[in-house]
Amino acid sequence: MRLRDKAVVITGAASGIGKAAAIRMAEEGASVLLCDINTKEGELTAEHIQENGGTALFMETDVTDEDSVQQSIQYAYKQWGAINILFNNAGVGGHEKKLHEVAAEEWDQVINTNLKGVFLGIKYVVPYMLEKGKGTIINTSSVLGFKGKKRTGPYNAAKGGLVTLTKNSALEYGRYGIRVNSIGPGVIDTPIVDEWRKDEKKWQIISSANALGRIGKPEEVAEAVLFLASDEASFITGETLMVDGGGLTF
Ligand SMILES: NC(=O)c1ccc[n+]([C@@H]2O[C@H](COP(=O)([O-])OP(=O)(O)OC[C@H]3O[C@@H](n4cnc5c(N)ncnc54)[C@H](O)[C@@H]3O)[C@@H](O)[C@H]2O)c1
Repeated sequence: MRLRDKAVVITGAASGIGKAAAIRMAEEGASVLLCDINTKEGELTAEHIQENGGTALFMETDVTDEDSVQQSIQYAYKQWGAINILFNNAGVGGHEKKLHEVAAEEWDQVINTNLKGVFLGIKYVVPYMLEKGKGTIINTSSVLGFKGKKRTGPYNAAKGGLVTLTKNSALEYGRYGIRVNSIGPGVIDTPIVDEWRKDEKKWQIISSANALGRIGKPEEVAEAVLFLASDEASFITGETLMVDGGGLTF
């Protein structure tokens, strides 16, 4: 088991990539705290893991709310006496609009969830990792953190910000045994892309615009997260691992 005796906190764990990562990490022996605003699906996922012999708890968490993030991380530490891995994954897509049409409130919602939420996770988990002299953090960026796309300005800004925030935190904490990396998913089959599915013609193009010519599965992203979280990635930090079927190359 690659994550035996490891305590993991995952945000956005009620659905898609976070859910797949929670299930996969629990299979590898980790104790997982699932954090999400979606209590019903989060609790169901935790129960699913428990029924399959894994260790999992759910805590309702809003990553845009500082107190909520702090309380969830404290809760995980109280339960397991350590937090070895944080997967900062919660995210929202936002509405497709040109920048001059984006309301300031919409900008705030995307940035607060996708970028500030990651900062808060790092802020509150790092002291526990420093105490143990080890830990690893994985942030969910995107192909859209590396290239522009019309009508997704706030999302691009947040995901691009995560790439450099990952480098920054890798530099600040590397000497203290903490590794920080990102993943860069391409188009992955989760509810976040439901808006794009509505236009069938457009969807066919979007969902196959990569070297492999197909959409990715959340389980395929979970494997990359597991790798970065495990000791197999012990000399990797500050990196973003693309999991995009060659989407950025395309
Ligand atoms: N699916 C893709 O094509 C794709 C591509 C690149 C990056 N991503 C990123 O992957 C991450 C996971 O998305 P997904 O594809 O699994 O989508 P998803 O919609 O299935 O999962 C996102 C989860 O985040 C949760 N969430 C949203 N706001 C939250 C908040 N304020 N606090 C706590 N939880 C919150 C949602 O309830 C949901 O469970 C996101 O950061 C997303 O931007 C997805």
